[in-house]
Amino acid sequence: MQPSLADIEALNAHGPYNDSVWTAGGAVLTHEEALSGRGHYLAKTLREVLTARFTRGELAEMSIADIGCYDGWIPHEVSDLPFRKMVGVEPRLKNIRKGELARKVFGIDTRVEFRVGGLENLEQCLGGEVFDIVVSTGLLHHVESPAEALRAMRPRCGRLLFLETIALDSRKIGDRARAGIEPRDVVYFGRAKTVGMSGNKLESSYYDGSATGLEVVSISSFETIALSCEAAGFSAPKLEADPDAYRRAAWKGRRPFHAVILTA
Ligand SMILES: C[S@@+](CC[C@H](N)C(=O)[O-])C[C@H]1O[C@@H](n2cnc3c(N)ncnc32)[C@H](O)[C@@H]1O
Repeated sequence: MQPSLADIEALNAHGPYNDSVWTAGGAVLTHEEALSGRGHYLAKTLREVLTARFTRGELAEMSIADIGCYDGWIPHEVSDLPFRKMVGVEPRLKNIRKGELARKVFGIDTRVEFRVGGLENLEQCLGGEVFDIVVSTGLLHHVESPAEALRAMRPRCGRLLFLETIALDSRKIGDRARAGIEPRDVVYFGRAKTVGMSGNKLESSYYDGSATGLEVVSISSFETIALSCEAAGFSAPKLEADPDAYRRAAWKGRRPFHAVILTA
């Protein structure tokens, strides 16, 4: 269906729709050119990971929560899979509202339930519920402590974590950095002395997809994220898409930073 001029004005007033690609008939509602391809790639990869690991019968008994779901496009995109329950958690009411408006204008129904909340109050907003699958995309690089974020997600996650984040280029971890980090703890006996690195930057809450307050956010290398997964109690962290595979499939060279997809 084609939105009316009044609908388009209302959508523009609610936007920008940076991370989603709501589509109906010939009309497409999206925003940042540099992000184009990312949403579809994430939804496709999430679908592939889930259908490779679980049968439809198993999925039909499972619940899924997307933390930092923005306007809900990614969970809605996989909502044809037969999950028992789907929840999107998002701290910005504005983002939930923009999804509601987009779906209303485009005549899209969704079975995803939305809750206002974030990493800081997951227990309160999810009522202590544990979800078989926890999805978190584009969130970890908007928080001060990715390790704390993973610790907050762990009690909510029953079977599988699907995580996507910008990641520091692992090639920056040279021999001198490795020596300075000194992986000497007893936990390194009998296993590879993997070390990671993080970079930091100041981020405000100005953009609808950013941190929720003024924060020094942390961009971690894949190694740091995997180690933090382990320390938070997730097992078997697995790289599903490395930065090169990700860039080839999603960014098509439009935005130069590194991103990874991992499961645990
Ligand atoms: C870059 S957007 C990614 C949106 C969507 N998940 C995606 O991948 O397209 C980051 C999202 O995380 C949310 N967010 C930021 N800080 C958060 C926090 N502390 N807890 C939960 N969500 C948060 C933002 O409001 C925003 O919706």
